[in-house]
Amino acid sequence: MNKETTQQSNPPPTILVIFGASGDLTARKLAPAIFNLSQDDLLPANCFLIGVGRTPMEDESFRKYLKEALTKHSRREIDQENWNALEQNIFFHGGGYHEIDSFRLLEEKILNLEKELGKPSQCLFYISTPPGVFEPILENLGESGLAKRHYGTEYASKVIIEKPFGKDLQSARKLNLVINQRFDESQVFRIDHYLGKETVQSLLVQRFSNSLFEPVWNRNYVSCVQITVSEELGVGKRGGYYDKNGALRDMIQNHVMQLLALTSMEPPSSLNPEAIRDEKVKALKAIKPLSLKGENAEVVRGVYTEGLVSGEKAIGYLNEEGIPEDSFTETYAALCLHIENWRWKGVPFYLRSGKRLTGKASEIVVQFKRPPGILFGQDERFSLAPNLLVIRIQPNEGVTLYLNSKTPGLETKLQPIQLSFGYETTFGSNTPEAYERLILDALNGDGTLFIRGDEAEISWGLLSPILDYWNEQESIGLESYSAGTWGPVEADKLLLARGHEWITGKDYK
Ligand SMILES: NC(=O)c1ccc[n+]([C@@H]2O[C@H](COP(=O)([O-])OP(=O)(O)OC[C@H]3O[C@@H](n4cnc5c(N)ncnc54)[C@H](OP(=O)(O)O)[C@@H]3O)[C@@H](O)[C@H]2O)c1
Repeated sequence: MNKETTQQSNPPPTILVIFGASGDLTARKLAPAIFNLSQDDLLPANCFLIGVGRTPMEDESFRKYLKEALTKHSRREIDQENWNALEQNIFFHGGGYHEIDSFRLLEEKILNLEKELGKPSQCLFYISTPPGVFEPILENLGESGLAKRHYGTEYASKVIIEKPFGKDLQSARKLNLVINQRFDESQVFRIDHYLGKETVQSLLVQRFSNSLFEPVWNRNYVSCVQITVSEELGVGKRGGYYDKNGALRDMIQNHVMQLLALTSMEPPSSLNPEAIRDEKVKALKAIKPLSLKGENAEVVRGVYTEGLVSGEKAIGYLNEEGIPEDSFTETYAALCLHIENWRWKGVPFYLRSGKRLTGKASEIVVQFKRPPGILFGQDERFSLAPNLLVIRIQPNEGVTLYLNSKTPGLETKLQPIQLSFGYETTFGSNTPEAYERLILDALNGDGTLFIRGDEAEISWGLLSPILDYWNEQESIGLESYSAGTWGPVEADKLLLARGHEWITGKDYK
């Protein structure tokens, strides 16, 4: 968030340690992010990378592996000179995540690098393994003393923890406990890569740097807020993983709730990370528990059946590889939330996320109330559409404001028109990837774009009762929808019953 400040600040010499370095995330996102930061001269002057994995690998093989990953996944071509300088500082450490001896040997490597450097350095530990080993890694970082290295100084260790952060309230609390017994909260960076996206960061800038929005950003002018994170893809080869999670855990608990918090929070008193995160927490705390059953139920879940996606036949979820035939995992979830505070009382916030939907989109739609229909709006010819502010997180990043205008001609007819801003058209392509921003911020100790422990627990606290209820009900209430549609009709009814309809995906004319 504090782009100006972070980019001008100078992180101390750093030893970046990636646990799970042979994995998919390192190859596709972390290595390219580190390389691009180095290319932009944003890494500390002395920066080492140690990859950790259970299967031993020579340093040389690890360097080759990373170079191949960069060639495939970096947004920019490899600058050979930059790579030559970088690769000398890349090492691999083979050892288990459960064995303390492996951590003691890792510490030796770190001490040797520090000795070579002749000055202290901070360690940034990036836990990029499957979540089942987050806890043993954190425990061993604590027991080996690596967690509290140089604690109290500018060289204090830091830890980045990948998502998912727990699978319900209980496990998130336990994970927080394991962390807090070893690290101070200021050392902890829980990642949700959505927060590193340019468009998400610019949401706060748009809200709080334009005098146009703040006066209307409340219950007096806003009719509803809709947040959609949709995917065209199905579960693919990740069926085994996905079936243990579902849409609510995989998308809503993290990305969608973060978008909700940023859209609804009060203006913070400063850009200080704690001031921003305090306001997000306050907004999340004000959400009323959801009604789960009966006519006023505020949740809908669904699962895709076969259908056509972009003209191609797609199989149903239960026929996907790795999905048990008696699975009742949801591939779609929609919620209607109410934030019970002064600003938002009475304004529904509709959230939805699903797989195998008509299109891929991450959008926030702020729908404004219609003006009084005195001049226009009483007559069929004057279809008076509500004003909309559509913030597109991806793809086609940008913002569009829908206003009513007169169509040309002798007759007075109204039609919504669009005032549009596109990131790519205005700023060009090749903007930094989310992981570049996030790794840089963690190096600088700036937690603004990371999730605080209490934030994760509040979000789980809201959603865990839904998961428990669904678990009790098994397949009762699990609605089906054809692949390639916008989800189950019950999700449309959820809005219709409240006088709204989904905007994203609608041909809005
Ligand atoms: N991939 C993505 O696009 C993505 C996106 C968002 C978040 N994440 C999160 O980032 C983390 C890493 O994702 P990933 O896709 O890179 O994971 P991954 O490829 O499945 O695993 C990363 C590495 O962890 C080690 N590992 C795998 N299974 C393990 C097990 N059961 N016990 C202990 N170690 C194991 C393996 O390294 P060794 O065998 O060398 O030890 C593997 O190369 C996960 O928490 C994931 O949820 C990933």
